[in-house]
Amino acid sequence: MKCFRFATYAVLCLSLSGGALAAPTADRKAELMYLLAQDCGACHGMRLKGGLGPSLKPEALRQWDAEQLAQTILHGRPGTPMPPWSPFMSHQEALWLAQQLKEGISQ
Ligand code: HEC
Repeated sequence: MKCFRFATYAVLCLSLSGGALAAPTADRKAELMYLLAQDCGACHGMRLKGGLGPSLKPEALRQWDAEQLAQTILHGRPGTPMPPWSPFMSHQEALWLAQQLKEGISQ
């Protein structure tokens, strides 16, 4: 379990283990989808349509390719509330999440 404090926003505790180099396994994909709904959803909206952070729906992300989105997920956007997620996931996993976002997640 790792806990993370975002200045004035929230304390996030995650039981995810970071770092695997291979493409995510089915279990890990389920964990990443849970993270997306719970943690990303806290800022980007429960249905990812936007909140404190912008919409993560495919229409809103058209200008970025999956690699650019993966970099944003891993490193955050300095100077904005978007935190870096590299302690919690590998590059492969961020890329997989970015691809899910670009394809659109039915929830
Ligand atoms: C503490 C609030 C917060 C959390 C939690 C958060 N984000 Fe963000 N995110 C933001 C903000 C604010 C921005 C806009 C940054 C900017 O102004 O460029 C952003 C931007 C982004 C962008 C770029 C969107 C674009 O069109 O420029 C992506 C992709 C993204 N977040 C994905 C995620 C994912 C995936 C997660 C969960 C792993 C996550 N975010 C969790 C606040 C958050």
